[in-house]
Amino acid sequence: MNITFNLNGKPVCYAGTGTERLLDVLREGFELTGTKCGCKEGECGACAVILDGRLVNSCLVPTGSLEGRNVVTIEGFSEMPMFKEISEGFQEVSAVQCGYCIPGMVLASATLLEQNADPDEEDIRTALSGNLCRCTGYNAIVKGVGIAADKLGRDRTPREVFPRGNKREEFIFPRTLEQALSLRDQTDLKPCGGATDLLVGEPDPGSFFFLGGIPELRKITTEDGWLRIGSEVTFTEMLESPQTPQILKDAVSGIAAPAIRNMGTIGGNIGNGTAKADTSLIMFALNAMVELSSVDGTRLIPVSEFYRGKNDLAIEDNELITALLIPDEDIGRYMYEKVGGRRALAISRISFAGILKQEDGIVTDMRAAFGAVAPTVLRLPEIEKKLVGRPVSEARDMIPEILDDYSEAMQFTRGRVSAEYRKDVCMNLLGEFLRTRLAA
Ligand SMILES: Cc1cc2nc3c(=O)[nH]c(=O)nc-3n(C[C@H](O)[C@H](O)[C@H](O)COP(=O)(O)OP(=O)(O)OC[C@H]3O[C@@H](n4cnc5c(N)ncnc54)[C@H](O)[C@@H]3O)c2cc1C
Ligand code: FES
Ligand code: FES
Repeated sequence: MNITFNLNGKPVCYAGTGTERLLDVLREGFELTGTKCGCKEGECGACAVILDGRLVNSCLVPTGSLEGRNVVTIEGFSEMPMFKEISEGFQEVSAVQCGYCIPGMVLASATLLEQNADPDEEDIRTALSGNLCRCTGYNAIVKGVGIAADKLGRDRTPREVFPRGNKREEFIFPRTLEQALSLRDQTDLKPCGGATDLLVGEPDPGSFFFLGGIPELRKITTEDGWLRIGSEVTFTEMLESPQTPQILKDAVSGIAAPAIRNMGTIGGNIGNGTAKADTSLIMFALNAMVELSSVDGTRLIPVSEFYRGKNDLAIEDNELITALLIPDEDIGRYMYEKVGGRRALAISRISFAGILKQEDGIVTDMRAAFGAVAPTVLRLPEIEKKLVGRPVSEARDMIPEILDDYSEAMQFTRGRVSAEYRKDVCMNLLGEFLRTRLAA
């Protein structure tokens, strides 16, 4: 397979299989060794490059997804405006120790400064949150980016520095839903969104087709009382859209780090079938529906029925997830918490989403969803219903009883943490939710 794309501003053609990692192709095929390899799992950011203006981890980019797209590596960026100020900023505070992380740090800084002329420390730390420095030079690096922002001018109007635009070929890059559904029906190729799950570990060579070029799967729209999020909408696009409900933005902003959020999609997050997927928790809490399409038509299924068990989804071999549909309604008071091992790049150990609606002092709806504690997200509608129709003061008095009900009914599995720890944390989160949201 020949893949033609723009590399550091010049068209190149790479002959290989579509599932080779861009990282390997850059280093071995094009001898661009400024792109470093740390983990090959999207965790360290050493391999970061810019793809159509977004920071991505090249170890998780299948080369087959590049047709017609623009890749900029550190070598290309070193010839571009803005490199000078960033490198001077880093030099002034001696931010470079062994240097291994620096190409990724510089590119992460560049994508921040391209969009934000006046970043504060928090903005810089967030932008660099997916880049690990083994020499732990973080404070100096953060200062260096701040100096670069000063040098570039904090009152400048941000403008695009990196090339965008993607012209994609049709075969493994279907451009219409019809083509994608027919590929799904007639081949064994796996659907691929951002590949941030598929390329972790050893991918099956030559087995993907890429869904990112289908316009109708990349939209967020409101239709007939539903918010429709196309399956190929990325986490970053969800964060950027004013239509995305805040509870979903809260969950998405805690996923991984910018380079993963720029690639990972909601379709892939639901399609991977795990109860640790952060958007799946929110979909359970919001009573979302999964839209599944095949050459035979389209059907909707409640998300709670879509997940049958661990990695067991109610999807036929010829179907694709084409959207998530969320009731377009005011959800009242909510609470979202993710408990992970660290702030960025942490897979949920436990996650919780609670929703509480009240009208004229009466509870009209209560939902509590627990993620990462069992084979699928847990909700217990029979207990939730107990509070509905009660005056708020009466519902508050019932909190100990409700906590007992949950504690008795919920079955926790052991994961990275013990079942007992999961239970304690879940009960604490539920208690906090009920006490703080059940208020006049
Ligand atoms: C370093 C790192 C950190 C991460 N942190 C988090 C985190 O904090 N929270 C979290 O929830 N996830 C996290 N993930 C996992 C991953 O980023 C998400 O699950 C992401 O949503 C996957 O989306 P994708 O588009 O990349 O999926 P892909 O890798 O493209 O696909 C994932 C699965 O879904 C299937 N699939 C994709 N699209 C469709 C479709 N339209 N229809 C049917 N099946 C489909 C694929 O065949 C595959 O089986 C992390 C991953 C990495 C590498
Ligand atoms: S090599 Fe670590 S993120 Fe790619
Ligand atoms: S400077 Fe050594 S890894 Fe960051």
